[in-house]
Amino acid sequence: MRVAFFASEMIPYIKTGGLADVIGSLPRALIHNVDQIDVFIPYYREIERQKLPLSTNSFEFKIKIGSRSYKGTTFELKTDYQNLRVFFVDNYHFFRRRSELYVKDGRDYHDNLARFIFFCRGALKTTEYLSSMKPYDVFHMHDWQTALVGIYTELSRFHQKNPPTRIFTIHNLAYQGKFPRSQFRLLNLDSSYYHFLEFWGKLSMMKAGIIFSDLITTVSPTYAQEIQTKRFGAGLEELIKQNKSKLYGILNGVDYSIWNPENDPYIPSTYSINDLSGKLQCKNELQQRYSLTENPEIPILGVVSRLAWQKGMELVLKVISQLLGENRVQFVLLGTGDHNLEQKFHELGNLFPSQTGISLTYNDSLAHQIEAGADIFLMPSRYEPCGLNDKYSLRYGTIPIAFKTGGLSDSIIDYSSNSNKGTGFLFSSYDEGDFRDAIERALKVFQSKQKWVELVQRAMRQDFSWENAAKKYLNLYQKQKR
Ligand code: ADP
Ligand code: GLC
Repeated sequence: MRVAFFASEMIPYIKTGGLADVIGSLPRALIHNVDQIDVFIPYYREIERQKLPLSTNSFEFKIKIGSRSYKGTTFELKTDYQNLRVFFVDNYHFFRRRSELYVKDGRDYHDNLARFIFFCRGALKTTEYLSSMKPYDVFHMHDWQTALVGIYTELSRFHQKNPPTRIFTIHNLAYQGKFPRSQFRLLNLDSSYYHFLEFWGKLSMMKAGIIFSDLITTVSPTYAQEIQTKRFGAGLEELIKQNKSKLYGILNGVDYSIWNPENDPYIPSTYSINDLSGKLQCKNELQQRYSLTENPEIPILGVVSRLAWQKGMELVLKVISQLLGENRVQFVLLGTGDHNLEQKFHELGNLFPSQTGISLTYNDSLAHQIEAGADIFLMPSRYEPCGLNDKYSLRYGTIPIAFKTGGLSDSIIDYSSNSNKGTGFLFSSYDEGDFRDAIERALKVFQSKQKWVELVQRAMRQDFSWENAAKKYLNLYQKQKR
């Protein structure tokens, strides 16, 4: 079986969020059961700077966007795995000239539609070269940036004997790729396609992905249910309901070769379920790093997050300032995003300098150090398709406190409802009071050493490895095509 992945991020090359983690890890979980996986991502400036050992094989093409033609090249990178290749789709103007992936100064690039038309069509052109000998069986698209692969293969598939099964994975329904309808001409599609893309007077790439795919998946079973409701459906709930016979919820896995406190190279001291002393050392180093009072008895509450509406950071600001005012906790945050939120966290840091560590940057190793050094991880997301940080936290024995939604409710067992099985603390009405209550419940258990250690060890025993999810994807890959 030959599979092509289309995505806009992938570790270790480029990452803004969990999508990159999934695209870096899922193919590796699949390679033992498929013949070949080719992953296509854009060739961003950040990737060029890494001076990767690209193969001399490259593919040239021209793409027409509206009335203009753009030249492109796809570069190939061989990986450590014989049957896994990464292809970078390049155009200087669209990808290498920009410092950020999707936005500049908080605003989307004005030509994002053109950029991702170019990417999808350039990647597809490359698959044509690559499949002249052996066709692909599966085209696996991820999020709106790659949804157009579905529509651009729609016509050709009727002439093909065994066209690839198109799987569209929704990592976040709320980011839809919406553009003014005046940009329809950029797509160079027959006008009969317009109504498939039209969404409240605009164009929605997400809608196209849902329609022009044979199967849809999303990244947790609960989110698969939630997106069929008005509250979580971002206006697409009716369309999703109509397509629910092809919708599956598959919980993301965790790559324990990267996120494992037993051999994590980023943390000051490794540790395991049976020997937690390294965790205390990590906590102490975190306290030193931010010049906090070095005291193991004071709980550290941590956050690593995009600072976006989705993540519920206003709740954190409100409740944490109360707890800091009462001098009961320390608080550490690593995040970037919304400028207003960045400003507020900066002010919080100034207000409580000896109790807080605020890093408004993107920093991979610090993300690991916070996962290891904090006692509690806060994730009051308003919605969360899957969420990876909660699962990383569990493995690091850093107890998650989260809103009961999406993939968070599929992976955290609430301790207060079941103290023999609980692995974290969930709150279920989205308000300050309920969030604070969940934190209070956690702090109470933290006071009792023995109970806390039992909870930490149980959390660390949870297993979210990719094998499970990979099997489910394989089943779908093998499903009968339309
Ligand atoms: P989302 O994809 O919605 O942002 P996830 O929980 O699925 O949420 O994944 C977030 C990923 O991004 C995690 O791997 C997390 O460690 C990482 N991350 C988020 N913000 C930062 C940051 N400022 N520095 C380093 N890593 C970050
Ligand atoms: C999105 C979601 C997040 C999920 C990630 C990977 O960014 O917001 O919940 O974990 O994709 O699927």
